[in-house]
Amino acid sequence: MSNGTGNRRSSTIRARDWFGSRLPIFWDNWVAAAGSVLIVVTVFLLLLLFILYLYNTLAGHESNPYVDLIGFMVLPAFLLVGLGLLWGGNLVRRRREKLGVRPHTPIDVTSGRFVRRALVVTGVTFAMLVGLGLFSFEAYHYTDSNQFCSYVCHEVMAPEAMAHSTSPHAKVKCVECHIGPGTSWFVRAKLSGIRQVFAVLTDDFSRPIPTPVHNLRPARDTCEICHWPERFHGSRLVTHPRFDDDEENTAQTTALVLHVGGPETQHQGSAASGIHWHVDPKNQVRYRHVDSQRQEIMEVVQSTPEGDIRYFRDADADSADGEWRTMDCLDCHNRPTHIYDLPHRALDTALTVGSLDASIPWLRKEAERLLRELEPNEDTETLISERLRAIYAEEHPEALAALEAKLQPTAAELTRILERNVWPAMNITWGTYASNLSHFDSEGEFGEGGCFRCHDGGMTTAEGEEINSDCDACHALLAVEEADWEGFEGLGMEAFLRR
Ligand code: HEC
Ligand code: HEC
Ligand code: HEC
Ligand code: HEC
Ligand code: HEC
Repeated sequence: MSNGTGNRRSSTIRARDWFGSRLPIFWDNWVAAAGSVLIVVTVFLLLLLFILYLYNTLAGHESNPYVDLIGFMVLPAFLLVGLGLLWGGNLVRRRREKLGVRPHTPIDVTSGRFVRRALVVTGVTFAMLVGLGLFSFEAYHYTDSNQFCSYVCHEVMAPEAMAHSTSPHAKVKCVECHIGPGTSWFVRAKLSGIRQVFAVLTDDFSRPIPTPVHNLRPARDTCEICHWPERFHGSRLVTHPRFDDDEENTAQTTALVLHVGGPETQHQGSAASGIHWHVDPKNQVRYRHVDSQRQEIMEVVQSTPEGDIRYFRDADADSADGEWRTMDCLDCHNRPTHIYDLPHRALDTALTVGSLDASIPWLRKEAERLLRELEPNEDTETLISERLRAIYAEEHPEALAALEAKLQPTAAELTRILERNVWPAMNITWGTYASNLSHFDSEGEFGEGGCFRCHDGGMTTAEGEEINSDCDACHALLAVEEADWEGFEGLGMEAFLRR
């Protein structure tokens, strides 16, 4: 009995000597001790997460973003703090040694008091880690929410948030297109988010926010998660109601069958067709643009499925400046969700659904003029009512009474349209964020943008081949009741238009 006690005592003393001489840096003072405990606990949790991660990977489960978040960001941060504390504790120790001071809280690792304290410290650290973990979990959720993206930086994001909230993607979260899945883009986004919040706080950002967004995640990682290119096929009937600039606001309709097409890979041996010919991986189109908006295209290189290269060049191309880019969804769908109207489109829609009254003479014409001329202010509706009244009094006095009878709802709807599309604080006006999905400019004229950046017949190969500019390659026009579009003459369209 006594022997056993003696042995235990001597081994205790030996352990104390050993620890006491070799590893005091870990618990010589409370700073170092706190650091040690933090390190031990985080390493333990990291190990647990690592096992979970291995299990998920082996079992083929999707990696959980929250596990990633805690494993890749939160715990390593704690580990760094722990190492920092340890280092600080060691500084304290060395300073004391220099001054010849005995350790302030000599810690006896083998005493019951130490064990009790260590238990308390471990418990508190653990609770803190759990608390902070939950907090960062919530914080993470919050920074991923549309509210955070849109309203924390209200002035900056309000236009995009408004455009998004009325688009086909209104139910898709900002982060699904702007960040997408995976940890590395998540970390990149949060880092650039910190920079952006800073830019807003210091009022150091450009108005409007420049587009295209150069560091946007490639479309195949975002759009293609929900939209499966192989599924696109066939044609789609598109109708655009329009109203003329005349006294009666005469209603018209443009109807076209758009050849949306697609890769058609479900059918053995079939070739890609139509507009989504472009998304077949076998067809690659690269282009060189000389402006930051990617509107002025000088050269186009097409790799054909047979492995040939066709090289088209603009007759005006003189230098080799600019940037090369491979076409993807965003070169056509550059406005999938931040969709801004042009005045004529917004008015045609409002007149069609009846939120503007087409029985008010000259409304289509004068409303467009007014929308182009005014900017919203604190009381846009009054501004619009007064201007509208003045225009009618001067130009169409005979119609003033008809206008007055419906002035309030008319002004309210025009206010909505103006405030939805024009944002003076961000220098956003009609056409600032133009869409590439057509070939009409901001005045509704044929234009040179969109598809016609390449498909206007202006680019040729050395052999004189052009990029297809056949109207029928992209659509069949069923009805166009307006014959005075520029660009129709000589295209043989007149007969077509009157069918
Ligand atoms: C359906 C995908 C999608 C969603 C959802 C989305 N965006 Fe975008 N966003 C884009 C694309 C694509 C661009 C780039 C446009 C370009 O390069 O021309 C963009 C551009 C922007 C820009 C730059 C300015 C501009 O209009 O081009 C801002 C700011 C922005 N988005 C904020 C947001 C906010 C805030 C939300 C959520 C309320 C959001 N986005 C939701 C796809 C999306
Ligand atoms: C999280 C899923 C999701 C993502 C990511 C997404 N979309 Fe969509 N998209 C949708 C849904 C849902 C609709 C609406 C379908 C409907 O209302 O008929 C839609 C509709 C569309 C439409 C048809 C719009 C119309 O006028 O009918 C286009 C074009 C489109 N998306 C392009 C894109 C592009 C380009 C991107 C990448 C920048 C993208 N989408 C990213 C889910 C998504
Ligand atoms: C060459 C230009 C171009 C490219 C590249 C392109 N699209 Fe389209 N897409 C169009 C046009 C034009 C339409 C028809 C728009 C309309 O209905 O007004 C369309 C229609 C769509 C629609 C609606 C389909 C329907 O049948 O209603 C979706 C969804 C879509 N595109 C998604 C995508 C995605 C995702 C990508 C990238 C993988 C992509 N597009 C690449 C031009 C393009
Ligand atoms: C960056 C240049 C570029 C832009 C922008 C572009 N295309 Fe193309 N497109 C090409 C090239 C190059 C080809 C292959 C050459 C050809 O078919 O003449 C092609 C082929 C096509 C084809 C297949 C034609 C055929 O002969 O079968 C269609 C349809 C098409 N594009 C529609 C569109 C539409 C619609 C848009 C706009 C929404 C558009 N493209 C924008 C370069 C472009
Ligand atoms: C490279 C493809 C392409 C070619 C070539 C092309 N278009 Fe288009 N066109 C489009 C697309 C895309 C739209 C937009 C469809 C939509 O509004 O949804 C469009 C829209 C139109 C519209 C409807 C405009 C509106 O907003 O009401 C008319 C009219 C039209 N095109 C006429 C023509 C004529 C005429 C030609 C031949 C000289 C032609 N297009 C050549 C792709 C093309």
